Amino acid sequence: MVRFSQLVVEQPWIKEIDINPLLATRHNPQTKGSGLIALDARVVLHDPELTVDKLPMPAIRPYPTQYVAPWTMKDGMPVIIRPIRPEDEPLVVKFHETLSDRSVYFRYFHLLKLSRRVSHERLTRICFIDYDREMALVAEYTNPQTGESEILGFGRLSKLHGANEAEFGLLVGDKYQHRGLGTELLSRLLQVGRDENLSRICADILPENLEMQRVSEKLGFRLLRAADVVKAEIDL
Ligand SMILES: CC(C)(COP(=O)(O)OP(=O)(O)OC[C@H]1O[C@@H](n2cnc3c(N)ncnc32)[C@H](O)[C@@H]1OP(=O)(O)O)[C@@H](O)C(=O)NCCC(=O)NCCS
Repeated sequence: MVRFSQLVVEQPWIKEIDINPLLATRHNPQTKGSGLIALDARVVLHDPELTVDKLPMPAIRPYPTQYVAPWTMKDGMPVIIRPIRPEDEPLVVKFHETLSDRSVYFRYFHLLKLSRRVSHERLTRICFIDYDREMALVAEYTNPQTGESEILGFGRLSKLHGANEAEFGLLVGDKYQHRGLGTELLSRLLQVGRDENLSRICADILPENLEMQRVSEKLGFRLLRAADVVKAEIDL
């Protein structure tokens, strides 16, 4: 069913598909077959006279696979950096359990309690996003021995209401800081911003957060220092 939806999203010229009859059988453990067979199907395409810009858009923006790409941390650890998915919630809970008070304070400007950070209500909003309004990238490591996955860091770009601008937020797990991941996540968010035609990206950084200021400056942000906050901005 997922692949079928991908087909429809990838091929905007498809106007309608009719699969009939569709034979659904039991799962076959020998062939590991899914047990769904299309016995007959009919695909109708849009009128060839139609121009591409007149083709209907999907009501919900599909998962942005163009932002999925591998990367290697400075110490050689391979990760995949990709947009967040709703099913990441359990991994996000584990990620939050590892964070130091310092990292939480630097990210949220106050000590947001673990129970609040991992509440299901909050994580649904964080993991189940409208990719048109915001983009959250996660860096995921999969242990080749156990097959278990771990989220090592996050980068988030949230569009500001009524402006063609976005604010970024970064959070790298304490164990994985200072290995280049923060810089890589932010440079990918900049690329997302360019691809999405944003005109400016900004963030508020605590004055004592020298790492974040360093990463921002390295990637071309201007830093405007005030007494209680450092504003980072870049025009795209
Ligand atoms: C800020 C943060 C995202 C950076 O991620 P990271 O993976 O550690 O970043 P990188 O390894 O890519 O780069 C860190 C840079 O800071 C530099 N740095 C580290 N400590 C520093 C210090 N005390 N003063 C100045 N620079 C420092 C490092 O040398 C490195 O720069 P370099 O690549 O030129 O050597 C990460 O530390 C973090 O998640 N912190 C807690 C949450 C937070 O602060 N979020 C930002 C809120 S917007």
